[in-house]
Amino acid sequence: MSCGSCHTPHGQVVDGQATLHAAHANPWLRVPNRDGDLCRQCHSSKLASRLDPEHPPRGVNHPVGIYLKAPPEGGVERQNYARDEHLHKGLPERLGKRGGTLDSQTRMTCQSCHQIHGGEGDAMTVLPLANTELCIECHPRQHAVDKKEARKKGVHPVDFKLDEAVKIAGKTFKRVTCFTCHSVHDGKPGTPLLREDHRDGKLCSACHEAQASVLNSDHDLRLTAAKSHNLAGQSPRQSGVCGACHQLHGGRPGEPVLHAWERHAYRGEKAALARDTLCLDCHRREGLAGEARVEHFSHPARDLILRSDPERMPLISPSDKLGEFGAMGCVTCHDPHRWTPPEQGGEKPTPETPVHRPGNLTGNVLNSFLRQRGVKDNFCVDCHGIEAPLKYKYYHDSRARDGGVDYLK
Ligand code: HEC
Ligand code: HEC
Ligand code: HEC
Ligand code: HEC
Ligand code: HEC
Ligand code: HEC
Ligand code: HEC
Ligand code: HEC
Ligand code: HEC
Ligand code: HEC
Repeated sequence: MSCGSCHTPHGQVVDGQATLHAAHANPWLRVPNRDGDLCRQCHSSKLASRLDPEHPPRGVNHPVGIYLKAPPEGGVERQNYARDEHLHKGLPERLGKRGGTLDSQTRMTCQSCHQIHGGEGDAMTVLPLANTELCIECHPRQHAVDKKEARKKGVHPVDFKLDEAVKIAGKTFKRVTCFTCHSVHDGKPGTPLLREDHRDGKLCSACHEAQASVLNSDHDLRLTAAKSHNLAGQSPRQSGVCGACHQLHGGRPGEPVLHAWERHAYRGEKAALARDTLCLDCHRREGLAGEARVEHFSHPARDLILRSDPERMPLISPSDKLGEFGAMGCVTCHDPHRWTPPEQGGEKPTPETPVHRPGNLTGNVLNSFLRQRGVKDNFCVDCHGIEAPLKYKYYHDSRARDGGVDYLK
């Protein structure tokens, strides 16, 4: 390749769009580069856009050809227009100043991110890629400076160092950035540019191994609530197993666990801990899990001190943290991601729920997302002694409660 591959001294004068620098009216290109036509000649594999019907519109490459302006009124194809409003004013100023450009119709093009001469780093980008500087000019909604801000905004934490390096699709990562999960030109087809498919929990389990066992359990809503929709309007099939309950960049501000289900819907008569309403929003009359609702779930916590090994059965502190002291909540006994508790004492977890299984499971005291098998060594014994097995096994049954003297209320 030489200068002459792209330039010719006999080129026509073309309009200002072909060059990034307004002062230079003519970059003497062989083909006008209005819509990224020049780049396409050699890099067709990097293109996947509405401009190019031959390539799938979603998945492998970052989209180009998207209008950075407000969609006009009427039945236009909204997916051809930038979703976030701040992109309706055109290219963010900082990108323009560094040589980024849009095509002749204010659509995104290769050079919105790349510079041909004088770009940053190996990929010749308009802004450096470290700390995802380039991405967040256009995608500030998905970004947060630290974990605290991430919770405040309702987005997955990003831009931090991992305690242990992880491997995703063959690449090793020590930091979580946009690029840990997304690949701009090498995404898995059909995903939003993800390095691994997220629908079977593959991407997530690289870092959240403990939660991966939710696959094929009663909490795989593809099996137990296929017709439901998450807050983004996706069915469990579209969102995938984790996405039915967690939205990576669309959680509600200040709320825990990036929940994707309707919150604060529990209106039961029984008062519940704030954390328990996470479960009760679905496990309530008319809820997603209306068939599996529980009516009795309270336990006295005032005027007595409950203490438990948090590794086995965590209690919930007044500030909503899991720990050694506090109140008893759903997650004291249940782990919503694991149908069968691990073998007690043993290192190895029991085999996961079988991959092919006939729909909904009916639980019992040995599974039902319980953390422990039975009450052996559980803290219930400390107070309830010989009654503990019954109190535990029939915890949601009114009969486990009738005998109790209510001297604490
Ligand atoms: C891969 C294609 C390609 C190659 C190879 C290439 N250029 Fe360019 N060049 C461009 C494009 C596209 C522009 C306009 C975008 C811009 O201004 O950055 C440009 C702009 C320029 C400009 C500035 C003109 C202006 O209006 O800003 C000069 C000067 C230039 N190239 C010289 C060269 C020389 C000299 C070489 C060989 C050493 C070379 N180019 C190789 C694609 C190429
Ligand atoms: C004449 C063919 C040709 C054209 C036209 C062309 N490129 Fe390239 N480009 C190449 C080749 C060859 C390489 C080197 C590829 C490699 O290392 O495998 C390359 C490399 C790149 C790289 C990666 C640099 C690196 O170090 O890996 C980027 C980014 C890039 N081109 C962007 C563009 C953009 C944007 C345009 C349009 C303005 C463009 N190219 C036009 C042939 C071309
Ligand atoms: C949203 C920003 C963005 C857009 C739009 C974009 N790229 Fe890239 N491109 C990148 C980033 C970031 C990298 C570096 C990726 C990496 O290191 O994994 C890259 C890498 C490349 C590379 C070299 C690495 C490789 O995978 O071979 C080429 C060539 C390239 N881009 C060409 C293009 C062309 C051609 C277009 C237009 C069709 C385009 N890019 C549009 C951000 C973008
Ligand atoms: C010039 C602005 C711009 C830059 C820079 C940019 N994007 Fe985008 N990105 C867009 C637009 C526009 C869309 C289309 C959807 C939308 O409006 O949200 C999009 C869509 C996406 C999508 C969703 C794709 C899908 O199929 O749903 C991902 C993921 C994404 N960008 C990641 C990145 C990453 C990672 C970077 C940093 C390398 C980056 N973007 C840089 C403008 C940009
Ligand atoms: C931990 C993995 C992960 C990280 C880190 C991550 N994303 Fe995503 N992103 C996803 C997944 C999974 C989806 C699709 C499912 C969803 O939205 O819940 C997605 C969807 C998107 C979308 C399309 C949906 C939307 O919200 O508009 C864009 C754009 C996007 N990501 C951009 C980014 C940017 C920019 C960064 C860095 C600031 C980033 N992502 C960091 C995993 C991640
Ligand atoms: C590269 C590693 C990595 C990947 C991949 C990843 N996560 Fe995370 N995620 C983390 C880390 C680390 C934290 C915990 C941050 C902390 O609180 O210390 C976290 C936190 C979370 C939280 C809790 C957030 C809160 O507000 O409490 C949820 C929910 C979550 N991730 C879901 C997912 C889902 C779903 C996926 C797959 C689409 C995924 N994560 C992919 C590393 C990752
Ligand atoms: C049926 C809904 C549901 C599904 C499906 C689901 N989760 Fe969760 N997840 C929850 C609930 C409820 C919590 C809050 C538990 C609590 O209060 O501690 C949670 C909490 C989390 C947390 C925070 C740490 C923890 O364990 O408390 C992470 C990380 C997480 N989930 C990841 C995932 C991943 C990864 C997947 C897919 C493999 C997934 N979840 C599937 C409901 C779900
Ligand atoms: C997004 C809604 C949703 C959330 C949140 C949720 N669940 Fe579920 N859960 C379901 C669905 C749907 C089923 C299957 C219902 C059925 O069996 O008909 C289910 C089933 C169960 C079962 C098994 C019932 C049986 O058939 O034996 C238990 C136990 C359970 N959930 C406990 C919990 C706990 C504890 C939490 C909170 C940590 C929780 N769930 C959060 C939707 C949810
Ligand atoms: C003290 C421990 C304990 C606590 C706390 C607890 N559960 Fe349970 N739960 C159990 C046991 C044990 C079973 C199994 C009962 C059986 O099927 O034999 C069970 C079963 C269930 C079932 C299935 C019942 C059915 O009828 O299908 C659901 C749903 C459930 N729990 C939800 C919850 C929710 C929601 C909370 C919090 C509001 C909660 N649990 C708190 C011990 C507990
Ligand atoms: C620190 C002592 C203590 C511990 C530990 C304890 N409890 Fe209790 N529990 C009580 C007291 C006191 C009452 C109220 C008197 C009664 O009903 O016996 C009670 C009541 C109950 C009730 C009846 C609740 C009602 O509203 O009528 C059940 C069921 C129960 N406990 C189950 C359990 C289970 C299961 C565990 C272990 C996960 C446990 N308890 C751990 C002290 C404790």
